[in-house]
Amino acid sequence: LSQDILLNDGNRIPRLGFGVWRVPDAEAPALVGAAIAAGYRHIDTAQGYDNERGVGRAVREASVPRDQLFITSKQRTSHQGRDSTFRSFDETMERLGLETLDLFLIHWPVPAQGRYVETWQAFVELQKQGRVRSVGVSNFLPEHLERIIGETGVAPAVNQVELHPRYQQHDLVAWHGTHGIVTESYSPLGGNGAELLREKAIQDIAERAGKTPAQVVIRWHLQRNLVVLPKTSNPQRAASNLDVWDFELSDQDMAEIAALDRPNGKTLPGPQAMNNLF
Ligand code: A2P
Repeated sequence: LSQDILLNDGNRIPRLGFGVWRVPDAEAPALVGAAIAAGYRHIDTAQGYDNERGVGRAVREASVPRDQLFITSKQRTSHQGRDSTFRSFDETMERLGLETLDLFLIHWPVPAQGRYVETWQAFVELQKQGRVRSVGVSNFLPEHLERIIGETGVAPAVNQVELHPRYQQHDLVAWHGTHGIVTESYSPLGGNGAELLREKAIQDIAERAGKTPAQVVIRWHLQRNLVVLPKTSNPQRAASNLDVWDFELSDQDMAEIAALDRPNGKTLPGPQAMNNLF
């Protein structure tokens, strides 16, 4: 398994990234700094996480050159629209204090706002102008993806969605595949509480492999060819979650995890509730 995946625009994205939702801005420099020192080369933030300043400081102060790091941010839903997209992108760059951004995402489609198509047109312009290297979306359903592709002829490089062994999203991942869209998994360990990691099947596989349950689940995402964005507030767990390149899940292991998929496995509330948050 290579360390990165080729996107549909020719850029490459590291398969394993560090998620920073709920990391307070004041704690981001130390935590993200430790994550980069431990070996993370991909950090996933958002305007709505309110920690772009802290993340940017960690990136600027890291001993790793900027061109070896992949930084993603996402646009707040309240900033959708043509002019406000350009303005909010500039604000993100000002808060990060960086010259370049690797990936900028529309955080939620918010169909009720009716602005995600013109927002996507502005994202495509941002990329054409060279202000951002890659553009994509998050929490889009195929009907939203079809509209933005139909209107612009440009497919997003990625769609970042909730995805873990209890919510495996096989249909969506297959749909992405036929349109050249890379799938990114958020809440990859099953989200808050990490109850998934206490699941017997996961614990048994971990014991057989001599790895932790979190490492097993992260490896499952990698072997499904997904970009995986685990998060933790603990620097030791952050380092441990990177140690997933020296073992392989067998077809039998993958089948046992496939059996954990549940129709009601989604842990986060639907977009209605999340729009206010992000
Ligand atoms: P914590 O910050 O206490 O480590 P995700 O949202 O990425 O699916 O993660 C769910 C939760 O899993 C996180 O809130 C995190 O809590 C916890 N977690 C992350 N890595 C590990 C690990 N290696 N072992 C146990 N729990 C973990």
